[in-house]
Amino acid sequence: MGDDFADLVMVNCSLVNVYTKEIQKKIQIAITNGRIAFVGTDASHTIGDHFITPSEFVKKSLLCGVTTLFPDSIDIVSVCGYKGFKEFVNLTKNLPMRFFHTVPGGLPVDKKFSHGKTLSLKEEKSAIKMPSVVGLGEVFSWTKVTKRDSKTMKSLQQMHEENCIINGHTAGASGKKLNAYVSSGIFSCHEPINFDQVIERLRLGMWIMIREGSIRRDLKEILPVVISHGTYTNRLMFCSDGVDPVDLSSYGHIDHCVRSAIKIGLDPLDAISMASKNCFDYYNLGQQFGGIAPGKMADILILDDLKKIKVNSVLLGGKTVVSNGKLTSNIKKPKVPKWITSTVKLAKFSENDFSIKSLNATENVNVINLKTEIVTEKTTEDLNTTNGNVSPSSDKDVWKVAAFDRTFGTKKHTVGFLKNFGAEIGAFASSWSFHENDLIVIGSNEKDMALASNKLSKSQGGMVVVKDGKTLASMPFQLGGIISTNSIESVSKQFLEINSSMIDSGCKFKKPHLIPVFLPFLALPDIRILYSGIVDVKKRVYISPINS
Ligand SMILES: [Fe+2]
Repeated sequence: MGDDFADLVMVNCSLVNVYTKEIQKKIQIAITNGRIAFVGTDASHTIGDHFITPSEFVKKSLLCGVTTLFPDSIDIVSVCGYKGFKEFVNLTKNLPMRFFHTVPGGLPVDKKFSHGKTLSLKEEKSAIKMPSVVGLGEVFSWTKVTKRDSKTMKSLQQMHEENCIINGHTAGASGKKLNAYVSSGIFSCHEPINFDQVIERLRLGMWIMIREGSIRRDLKEILPVVISHGTYTNRLMFCSDGVDPVDLSSYGHIDHCVRSAIKIGLDPLDAISMASKNCFDYYNLGQQFGGIAPGKMADILILDDLKKIKVNSVLLGGKTVVSNGKLTSNIKKPKVPKWITSTVKLAKFSENDFSIKSLNATENVNVINLKTEIVTEKTTEDLNTTNGNVSPSSDKDVWKVAAFDRTFGTKKHTVGFLKNFGAEIGAFASSWSFHENDLIVIGSNEKDMALASNKLSKSQGGMVVVKDGKTLASMPFQLGGIISTNSIESVSKQFLEINSSMIDSGCKFKKPHLIPVFLPFLALPDIRILYSGIVDVKKRVYISPINS
């Protein structure tokens, strides 16, 4: 009404109106107390003599025009349980970025073999009472839903009672199985890899997050067909499903999705709505967020160009957090409690921890054959024995691989064999692996394997590459053994060094860091290794490293 002055008035805007799908020219937007007060051609009644203070702390994604993130803290929960979830939520507070959390919905990945920490129903219930928690993260074992697993059913019921959203994961589901999954009130999926899977899900009332991130890129496969079919885009969104620091710098974040979509031929208005309005509508946050209209939170991007999606400035709650493509304040290092930086519970390693004993001169062994960084198949090899220990073979490109419990301090471990890794190094160790977070060590000799493991034990987690007793590259993950507290610049550098140290030594894959991350991941076939044993995923049994 103009009874009070606005904190900020933006004039001469070309407004992308996601509600009417039009570009309104020469628009003025008035902002008060972080919210939009007025949108129209003349905001002169709201103009007084206030000034704007630059905002506090900002993140890398802000430069890409991202103002809101929906994280799934599944890995920190698998290491630190509910305490870890609460701390993660805590770490996202007081940042100039909106965080809406989901309670991990995918744990345990497989009740029979998984051993990471999970949340009890009681903990889930108390988590969703937290103001920034909006629901349950991807329920990725969809058979738990179709087979009516009792804890999963109770968890879903709890979510529905509190009007929470539930994120889905329906890779490989269709027909009656997909119908059954959707009927339980899970309405989204980020797993479609082609248009047929998208349209089947849209027809059942689902929302689709088109994935474009470091693990998979599905946008170029899906969007051209969406455009040629003239498919409604009002239930399509973008997601990264995880983006590594190097990709974040080189491709960008959701801005990259919008840019690529426009390049492929999608109407920029549809692309921007997919990145804003559709997402908030899906999360039941459309009353507050998603477009520029009176009463909405004043989260606004100012773009230099509608096609290139070059972010000039970002307002978050009416405050400038990016100006002229630069953050307007420094990023402060988060204050991390001590307990979360001492979660890697490992005893001192010796070469013996990596031996596979045998009384025979040769043994026929089961091998995890790497088809890609992620996909494995079960094969067998004949290997020689040295001093009663079955040896890896560089001629056959067969390596030792070991998994250790580093969460509970039980000293339990398993040693087996890996094929097709290719890098002529001594050892590569990682304390981060999807949802199990075992210490995984790949190596050509026990000495370097022990050394690499001792290094990660000392640094309380990370990734390290060792050759002939020397460290070729390393990256610490101080927080929970899975997250680095260093700056993104330093992590990106170390991340590139880790991968290039192995690629330069002959590794056949482009992203070797993903190998230990996926080795214990039970949601994928064919053969996985955990500290509790080597798992034949299809047969759902443990198998021994040696065939007797
Ligand atoms: Fe998924």
